[in-house]
Formats: sequence, C-alpha cells, structure tokens
Amino acid sequence: MTSTLTDSAFLQACRGERPAHTPVWFMRQAGRSLPEYLAIREGTAMLDSCFRTDMVVEITMQPVRRHGVDAAIFFSDIVVPLKAIGVDLDIVPGTGPVVAEPIRSAAQLGQFRDVEPDDVRSITDAVTALVGELGSTPLIGFAGAPFTLASYLVEGGPSRDHRLTKQLMYSDPELWHALLGRMAAIAAQFLRLQVEAGASAIQLFDSWAGHLSLADYETYVKPHSTAVLESVADLGVPRIHFGVGTGELLHAMGDAGADVVGVDWRVPLDDAVRRIGPGKAVQGNLDPTTLFAPTEFVHARAAEIIEAGRAAEGHVFNLGHGVLPATDPDSLTRLVDFVHSYTPTAP
Ligand code: CP3
Repeated sequence: MTSTLTDSAFLQACRGERPAHTPVWFMRQAGRSLPEYLAIREGTAMLDSCFRTDMVVEITMQPVRRHGVDAAIFFSDIVVPLKAIGVDLDIVPGTGPVVAEPIRSAAQLGQFRDVEPDDVRSITDAVTALVGELGSTPLIGFAGAPFTLASYLVEGGPSRDHRLTKQLMYSDPELWHALLGRMAAIAAQFLRLQVEAGASAIQLFDSWAGHLSLADYETYVKPHSTAVLESVADLGVPRIHFGVGTGELLHAMGDAGADVVGVDWRVPLDDAVRRIGPGKAVQGNLDPTTLFAPTEFVHARAAEIIEAGRAAEGHVFNLGHGVLPATDPDSLTRLVDFVHSYTPTAP
C-alpha cells in the first residue's frame, strides 16, 4: 500500500494514472449498514449529528477502519449547507429531506444567502480533524448539485417524477435559473470551505439528473453544474461528478468540468468511457443490490467491472449508487479485499 496522500491509489486513479491496486470506496459507506453507526446515532437527529464535530469525525472513520477503503467521504448530507444558512428543512427518517416552504416564487429566494465560514465551522473543524486522523487516506468532500438541491426545494421533499420541479423549469425559466444560480453559489462555497479545511477531492452529487433529457439537461442544468465545478478548479483537487440513470448524460456531465465521471450500474464501464470521451477517469459501478447475492457472484461481477474499467484512463471502483441499509457489512469488507487483490488481465 502507498505511504503518502498524493501517491494514494485513489488520487492516482483520479489523475488518470494506474496505481498498484484498483482503489475502492462506497457511496453511503458511512451510514445505516453499520451497527456502530446505528449505535452512535441513537438519540441524535440526522441533521444535528451532521453539525457535531465529534460525530462527523467518528462516523466518517467507521467504514475506513472496518473495510479498509481507499478514501473516506465526510459524513454529512447534501442539504446541510442549506440548513447552515437557516433554510427551514429536516431529514425525515425513511423519507429524506423535507422542506417546510417549497419554492414557488422569486420572493422566496432571499433566504439563500452565501455560506460564510462561521455557518459551517463545526463541519470544517471536523474536516481538519479527519485529515489529521486519516493520514495517507484521502478525504472526499461533497455537495449536492444545483438540480438535485432544487428538486428537494421545489417539490418540498423526495419526488418520483419531479413534476413540480419540471413545471417550474418549463414555465418560469427566469425563476428557475435564479434558483439554480443560488444553489450553484452555495454548493461552490461549501466545497471550497471543505477543500480549504483539507479535503483532497470533491464529489458533486446530481443524483436525480437522470430524470432529464439531454436537451433539458444542457439548457436548464449544465451551466449551473459547470459553474460549481469551475469555481473549485483553482484548488487543484480531483472533481468527481455523479448521477443516477445518467447514461445519456455521461458526456455532458464530464464536459461540465469533471475529472472523474461517476457511472451507475446501467452502463458497462467500457461503454461509459466511449460515451464520456478522452481525458477523464471513471468511478463505479457495481449494482448495490448485487451485494445480496453469493460472494462468488459479487466477485465475478466486480472482476468484470475492473476489466471494463481498464478502458478508462483511471478507474475508481465504487457501487453504482449508495450502499443499501440492509447490506451485510462483511460483504463490503470482502469486496474491498477482492478489488485490492484482483490483477486485471486487460492491458
Ligand atoms: O456517502 C456517505 O457515506 C456520506 C454521507 C452521505 C449522506 N447523504 C448521509 C445520509 C452523503 C454523501 C449523502 C448525500 C445525499 N443525501 C444524496 C446524494 C447521494 C445519493 O444517495 O444519491 C441525496 C440525494 C441525499 C438526500 C437524502 N438524505 C436521502 C435520500 C436520505 C435517505 C432518507 C432515508 O431515511 O431513507 C438522506 C438521509 C441520510 N443521509 C442518511 C445518511 C446516513 C440516513 C439518515 C439516518 O441514518 O437515518
């Protein structure tokens, strides 16, 4: 294994290099699949725990200690910067983010002020403490992309069809772009504060972008995600851009300014590499439900993914979306060991 942060397998792969082993981490690796997570969260609301430095540090470290993953992702949520500037919202267990007053008019945009360092001091303190504790293991900072954040704000909560979001987008483009512009500014400020506190990569989560056609993505969303990714370009850390069901958007999501494009399980990685085009690394893409199959099946699928990933300039192994809460944590540990020990046959 490597000894310095810059030489870590994860950062090498993000830069398009070929480290000695394929690096692996899991979206939602910090969370409900771990008994130690459930124990520490007992009695503390999700959003409260995100603002407690000690809890953020401990929960972020849990999967690193248990699984030996190649990167940590700091424990938080995409709605945390909105909460930090005073937006009235909560995370409801089993549902997700719920907003008290869904966005319907321009008059409501005044609440989306800039994120100041003091708003998120307990969080950046956690990032700094984590970087010390993690040593040569990189810490990934993250933010929600403008579209995914706006979807929660307009719908008032999770949505199957994003009907109200698209209604606003199509019927009032001026308000739409003003809202996404504010979300882009907030995401950019939150990411910058995390990197300044020591995060060595960032991931922009546009989880629901796959609900858009390519044309709508280009017109209504991409300029704002591009603004976020460009705003942190000067910091020199790898930028990962991820969404679910984004097979038709992969090229555009790379073009928005990503160094690494996250791919869900629907598109094989070699095909994804062709869609994305040259000059980018990829991250993915084992279907999270695979982890409920026998170990030999999981590892056969993982081997296929590593082979397909050889088509890319760099490959970070991950799931195609987050770890499901019912996942047996031991299956994740076994998968990390398998990915680390697997020697690809592809050149
Ligand atoms: O990846 C990690 O381990 C870091 C932590 C992380 C969380 N949320 C913790 C969390 C990250 C990166 C997120 C991002 C996030 N949050 C996204 C983008 C990633 C994705 O999954 O597509 C989205 C869409 C959200 C919004 C959100 N927050 C949802 C849909 C939920 C689940 C609601 C539920 O209870 O089913 C949350 C809550 C949440 N965020 C939990 C965790 C660990 C569960 C809280 C709990 O323990 O009760």
